[in-house]
Amino acid sequence: MALLDVENVRVSFGGLHAVDGLSLSVRAGQIQGIIGPNGAGKTTLFNAIAGIQKLSAGTIRLREREIQALQPYQRAALGIARTFQNLQIFPDLSLIENVMIGYHPRARTGFLAALLGLPGVHREERRMEEVAYEKLKLMGLGDRAARLAGDLSFGESKLLEIARALAAEPHVLMLDEPIAGVPASEQGPVVGMIREVNDTGVTVVLVEHNMRMVMGLCHQILVMRSGRYLAAGTPKEIAANPEVISAYLGEEAVHA
Ligand SMILES: Nc1ncnc2c1ncn2[C@@H]1O[C@H](COP(=O)(O)OP(=O)(O)O)[C@@H](O)[C@H]1O
Ligand SMILES: [Mg+2]
Repeated sequence: MALLDVENVRVSFGGLHAVDGLSLSVRAGQIQGIIGPNGAGKTTLFNAIAGIQKLSAGTIRLREREIQALQPYQRAALGIARTFQNLQIFPDLSLIENVMIGYHPRARTGFLAALLGLPGVHREERRMEEVAYEKLKLMGLGDRAARLAGDLSFGESKLLEIARALAAEPHVLMLDEPIAGVPASEQGPVVGMIREVNDTGVTVVLVEHNMRMVMGLCHQILVMRSGRYLAAGTPKEIAANPEVISAYLGEEAVHA
């Protein structure tokens, strides 16, 4: 069953169609890769799915429910979480505080209850801290929950970001270039953690330039070029696709 269905989506900036009639169906439990040259529209597609970017055409469904008209926070509540291409952590807050920011209560304790200090509020706070700690532990950062995020290495900061996205307990986790800028020595752990997250049942949609990572990690890959579909398939199929090789892998080989 498709968990996330993107159908004929178009996102335009003035006259430029950054995403131009793109379709993608992501099955539950999979790691879906999205690759393509710089400017192909990968981040714009993420923004469209998360609700940060308005569609000029098309439909997005989560579990068969249309979500393209919903606000980002409503999509988050339905189970879509993402990290950003550029690191977004708060260095002066502790790790656990950074992760708690991502918590999204499904059963919202009311504003009035919060004002009156009713017991449900404290329960929710405790729950928030428990969830945040659990996600930090999953990312191997549990023993440093009280430390400042500014003390982390770049690779660890990326893991902290993933922990924060997971604090919303999403069905779909979208990662935009999670190892971009991460030193080679720290890439392995990040890749391992993404696999672990997927093993807990979270569907992952991954944009990444590192071809070895994409090929080793993803079940299915979509190749984009100029906002459009170029190819889709398993890593093996993609690696053998002549169009992909000339459009993308060839370019990668030139820069390698
Ligand atoms: N906010 C924006 N305003 C205008 N053009 C944009 C904006 N965001 C992205 N673009 C353009 O849309 C195209 C796709 O960009 P992007 O989605 O960032 O590509 P990718 O993530 O695949 O590198 C590029 O040509 C980019 O310059
Ligand atoms: Mg991008």
